Amino acid sequence: MVTVAHPYLDKDRRKIQGLFDAIAADYDFLNHLLSLGIDIRWRRDAVRALDLQPGGTYLDACCGTGDLGFSILGAQGPDAGISVIGSDFSLGMLQHGQRKRQRSESRDGTPAPRFLAGDTLRLPFADACFDGAAVSFGIRNVQDLRGGLTELRRVVKPGGRVVLLEFTPLRTPIIGPVFHFYLQHVLPRIGNFISRSRDRAYTYLNDSIRRWPDGETLAEAMRDVDLVAIEWRTLFPGNVALHVGIRG
Ligand SMILES: C[S@@+](CC[C@H](N)C(=O)[O-])C[C@H]1O[C@@H](n2cnc3c(N)ncnc32)[C@H](O)[C@@H]1O
Repeated sequence: MVTVAHPYLDKDRRKIQGLFDAIAADYDFLNHLLSLGIDIRWRRDAVRALDLQPGGTYLDACCGTGDLGFSILGAQGPDAGISVIGSDFSLGMLQHGQRKRQRSESRDGTPAPRFLAGDTLRLPFADACFDGAAVSFGIRNVQDLRGGLTELRRVVKPGGRVVLLEFTPLRTPIIGPVFHFYLQHVLPRIGNFISRSRDRAYTYLNDSIRRWPDGETLAEAMRDVDLVAIEWRTLFPGNVALHVGIRG
């Protein structure tokens, strides 16, 4: 059987924006369903890797509906005085994030991220204005990896961290083939059906993960943009990697 690569693997900005706009309403639900809720733990690990400082301001780039930003703020409580800005170029995703922000404010006044439309390849922020920046499951979708990493480094203060949480090739003998079967045959069917995605967003997810560099190659890409002291590890069950670099 001939398999045709998903037409959005060129990661053209308009295609990716449209793809996420169209699935925004079901995005959070499907994330938790398709990862069996483990995504919440992955984001918590990414928040810990940011090494939050009281009073700090953090960027959640490619924030989507803002789950990572909410996790950052939830980790510290209101007294820590932390603020988070979430930026993304999908207005559909941002609108859902904004609704979550309103709900959280009216429920108990818990601090919530502020959202801003912005392309990670041209972040609308001054140099060195954040204490740290993180991207969860977003950097894989950015058309120019080096350009995205350069921008993340630019907006972080010297000594601040850049944290990447992203899928990574899983090559373990038993879990690997099972996971690949799930990723290729089960996840796209459920995801495309529930989200009614005309772009076959969850087929794109599978195809883009398969083409994504392994952990060491991504670490090298971080070093190439002058991020230093790069550390990375995989998270349970091994299909997600957490990378941390410092702006020297
Ligand atoms: C898989 S979602 C991840 C959302 C969120 N970070 C999370 O953890 O659930 C990927 C997001 O990256 C955004 N994105 C992709 N390329 C982008 C770019 N160049 N600039 C801004 N956002 C981008 C998409 O619009 C989408 O909301």
